[in-house]
Amino acid sequence: MKVRKAVIPAAGFGTRFLPATKSMPKEMLTIVDRPAIHYNVEELIEAGIEDILIIIGRNKEEIANYFDRSPELELLLKEGGKEELYELTERISNMANIHYVRQKDAKGLGHAVLCAKTFVGDEPFALLLGDDLVHATVPCIKQLTDMYDKYESTIIGVQTVEKNQVNKYGIVDGVKVEDHLYEVKGLVEKPSVEEAPSNVAIMGRYVLTPDIFEMIEKTAPGKGGEIQLTDALMLLNEEKGIYAFEFEGKRYDTGDKLGYLIATVEYALRNEELSTDFRDYLKTII
Ligand code: UTP
Repeated sequence: MKVRKAVIPAAGFGTRFLPATKSMPKEMLTIVDRPAIHYNVEELIEAGIEDILIIIGRNKEEIANYFDRSPELELLLKEGGKEELYELTERISNMANIHYVRQKDAKGLGHAVLCAKTFVGDEPFALLLGDDLVHATVPCIKQLTDMYDKYESTIIGVQTVEKNQVNKYGIVDGVKVEDHLYEVKGLVEKPSVEEAPSNVAIMGRYVLTPDIFEMIEKTAPGKGGEIQLTDALMLLNEEKGIYAFEFEGKRYDTGDKLGYLIATVEYALRNEELSTDFRDYLKTII
């Protein structure tokens, strides 16, 4: 079955980006001229997925407002002859079929994904973390859905990281079965450098089969009382087997201050309107 639906969890507190995230969802932090989550919705559309569920929480209405219509602004732009800006604004509210559900308590990524159970039904689905961006020639999710079409099994998006960074990620213990593809033997959440079975890290992009919901329901809360998706994936791996695919592309963690700054600079340098002037400016200060 083709992947037709996607879920974007965006209900976390974003404590790494306080105080901005006190009232502003981290997924709404602007990268150049649009919020991070806009790039993720674009990635899904480019991958042919237009039914999207965003998991929100309290203080996250800004996300729904952004993808809604802005009749007054649209009228103002139209009457002011600002046709291009009018079209841009109007297009955002028609980008995709976006649905919302509230995670009432931020009890972890696994718990957030469980909130998508009714929306997903009995289909495979794509999962993208709202604050993780991937710039790639072929949209990252498309790379994963292509692999899903071949193996019809859960696929986790991974990339290799520096050995000293393994303690920030879920790490895969796997056996290579073809170029860029591993059969997962085990997963370890944020291991120490000494304990890490590899430097292959889970990177915020997944294609999951609906079996994941039963596994999340069986998963006991872990660190900080949160239900971890990685724990549920481990159960799924024991029962059905899962794969990890090393996708092509540059990934940015915009929920982290340094990651956010790196994304801002690199997306600005790729922006047609800004790149020349911005590059010249950077040269003067570095
Ligand atoms: P993070 O690990 O980045 O968690 O979640 P966080 O709590 O938002 O951020 P920090 O670490 O405190 O700064 C990864 C993704 O899962 C979502 C987040 O919104 C983010 O997109 N998430 C996390 C939820 O939707 N619900 C949760 O309970 C936890």
